[in-house]
Amino acid sequence: MRSIVIDDDFTAWRAASLKALAEGLAPESIEWRVEQPPELRQGQTLFDYGESSENDMITPATVAVHVSKELGALIHDCALHCEPQRWAFLYKVLWRWQQGDRSVASPADEDGAQLYRMAKSVRRAKHDMIAYVRFRQQAQSSRPPEYIAWYEPEHDVLAWAAEHFAQRMGRSSWMITTPRGAAFWDGQQLHLERRHALPGEHRVDTEDEAEALWLAYYRSTFNPARLNETALEQHMPVRFWKGLPEGHLIPAMISEAKSGARRLAQASGVGELGGKSIPVEAEVAQPVRESPSSLDACRRCDLWRNATQAVGSSGPGEARIMLIGEQPGDQEDLSGQPFVGPAGQLLDMAIKRAGLSRERLYLTNAVKHFKWELRGKRRLHKTPGQREVEACSYWLERELETVRPTVIVTLGATALNALLREKASLRDYIDKPFEMAGSVGIATYHPSFALRQPNDAARDKILDEISNALERARELAESALPEIPNPTSKKLRQ
Ligand code: URA
Repeated sequence: MRSIVIDDDFTAWRAASLKALAEGLAPESIEWRVEQPPELRQGQTLFDYGESSENDMITPATVAVHVSKELGALIHDCALHCEPQRWAFLYKVLWRWQQGDRSVASPADEDGAQLYRMAKSVRRAKHDMIAYVRFRQQAQSSRPPEYIAWYEPEHDVLAWAAEHFAQRMGRSSWMITTPRGAAFWDGQQLHLERRHALPGEHRVDTEDEAEALWLAYYRSTFNPARLNETALEQHMPVRFWKGLPEGHLIPAMISEAKSGARRLAQASGVGELGGKSIPVEAEVAQPVRESPSSLDACRRCDLWRNATQAVGSSGPGEARIMLIGEQPGDQEDLSGQPFVGPAGQLLDMAIKRAGLSRERLYLTNAVKHFKWELRGKRRLHKTPGQREVEACSYWLERELETVRPTVIVTLGATALNALLREKASLRDYIDKPFEMAGSVGIATYHPSFALRQPNDAARDKILDEISNALERARELAESALPEIPNPTSKKLRQ
């Protein structure tokens, strides 16, 4: 087995492949390993094409490979796919082609079909990036770039899209940042840089008057009476909302439409219709549901009004460890899943460090709807009040009764208070497991507390604390329940 180490880009793979072909190395005898290149390469021309339909790909001291234009384009796109095994796969394709096996470029062939699938996905990602990148103008006083955009492409299409924008935006300077790299256009030249973004780094504060106008216009075109969520999400998939200036408006507009604006928008039209009217008592028309049968129908407090949806739990119902957070955040609210945003990413790191896997944990929140306030264009988290935590304990209790976890880990003070059903100081409970209606309770910090730390060292310290608590939870869950100190034994219902 030969190990070939390349930079994670097409140029390096191409050179190594031609050499390997010259040596006659079969695909199964190569292990492809990648290193991150120091920077993205701009304007990589993957194959050079002449007039004929088959062309030479020649590198001195290697080998000449004749590929069809179509295969060249497919390989070109596949090289941008996020699949880590793509280099080995593409070498196999090239090898088969070089052996004279032309069926490899056919969609009827197994490898050919995969090639088409991957290329199609990359082409869609290119199209999406062109369609959904939104530049925001920086404040007048700021230094260049004049326009900034944050975007999360599905594949490695930043360099491709950056050239597209460079050709279309004239001399205006701009920057596009993505989780894995950034492109900067100074009005004349394109600079590409590969790096990793931090959670929340993409937040861009701008004073963009055109954007304010655009938002006002967008709002005015929305007709709640004609809301069709499926069509809306088909035209503008949810995963793009967070990068769009109008994205933060959509959940609130949907939620308003569902909670009455739709009726109001229709009211005048309906009122003009003829026919007999039958008076109905308000309580009969809209009964107060004390025990809603499903979380989505919950009206026990007012938080549902401004949330996109209720966010339930994730993980198996028979999990031995239950983690309780505070409430869903912006991304959880949009996706309907707990802990998928920046705090969730940190939690995942702590889970991993503790030797646990997320799939085996039951994750839920003390409060199931996102509580937020609008600050500028952003929906900012607002800590839920005691009344909201109390109202939502209806759901938490049902989860505790159903899952009956061996260990319950509370993340942050709100979760601890929700579990104890009284106000307690997190400091008094940290590192002191307690008994809780047949389970062991372990209190630790919320991952967002780590996110708020001023530097990496402080952030790591909190992350360590959380992973230590989770490790303790794992040990307790794995062993038969040991005798534990019981300073604050509680019942679920008092
Ligand atoms: N913070 C929480 O407490 N829960 C989530 O699901 C996400 C962020």
